[in-house]
Amino acid sequence: MKKIGVLTSGGDAPGMNAAIRAVTRAALAKGMEVMGIYRGYNGLINGDIKPLNVRSVSDVMQHGGTMLYTARCQEFRFEEGLQKAKATCLEQGIEGIVVIGGDGSFRGAADLSARGIPCVGIPGTIDNDIAMTEYTIGYDTAMNTAMELVDKLRDTSQSHDRCSVVEVMGRNAGYIAVNTGIACGATCIIVPEMPWSIDAVCNKIKNTHTTGKHHFIVVVSEGVGNAVELAKTIEKETGVESRATILGHVQRGGSPTIRDRVAASQLGYYAVQLLYEGKGNRVVGIQKNAIVDYDIQEALSMKKPFEKELYKIADEISF
Ligand code: F6P
Repeated sequence: MKKIGVLTSGGDAPGMNAAIRAVTRAALAKGMEVMGIYRGYNGLINGDIKPLNVRSVSDVMQHGGTMLYTARCQEFRFEEGLQKAKATCLEQGIEGIVVIGGDGSFRGAADLSARGIPCVGIPGTIDNDIAMTEYTIGYDTAMNTAMELVDKLRDTSQSHDRCSVVEVMGRNAGYIAVNTGIACGATCIIVPEMPWSIDAVCNKIKNTHTTGKHHFIVVVSEGVGNAVELAKTIEKETGVESRATILGHVQRGGSPTIRDRVAASQLGYYAVQLLYEGKGNRVVGIQKNAIVDYDIQEALSMKKPFEKELYKIADEISF
């Protein structure tokens, strides 16, 4: 391949810039041209594409967000959108594309690969909900942000003898919740993957209250939701004054941690290597500290086991 494109798609994640940099530099080092495709698949449909040179990706690694912007592109779900994207690639001489995003973005990458434009996916999402990889770019930064914010909530909860019910992101996955919960000493962690009941939550708070603890953190994953209702019920059932906080999109921002920058650099480099070898319809990931790659359809059909052991540990040591 002589010319490739790179795009970010879906929700942004800290470390995406480091991946764009790695893709750009690795491709330039191999003598390939690199085109930056703006606002996800929309850029392919609208021809919003500009060349990236070695200096285009200087000073980006330490910044959150994505220098290529991002979007969730509805048009790309339909044949017409895919054909427009393919036509743009043919016009611009783009022979392969690196797609940085989550599951939805990989479906688009598989569809475009099937239409003759080889794509390689890099997992970039704070949710860590991609089964073929143990780790997704942005996850570590998001967890650290959530942890810092819950620590701050703990200060005020403690001062007022209150319960803080904190909703964290993760879409339908509880990885951010369970890790943030254990790291912040949450009394209860509520995730979609594990059974829970309001009675069990209230009983745990009441029992813990009798041991001399007067402030509580309950971390709830957005896949379960209803932090406001939960806080009201906890207050009513336990008598502990409660407040709800939804952390929201603040978890998606900020300077990426070293783990995210390193993973993004490795995955970006490896994705380019695959395209250089003429391989498409692949997604790269990390398993047991090694970089692996899978067929996109196979990757999308995989199921990720939940961290049940971690959840159990968190539960047993928080009282
Ligand atoms: O997938 C990343 C994520 O931040 C999820 O945790 C969350 O459910 C979703 O994106 C929010 O999407 P949007 O930015 O479109 O509101």
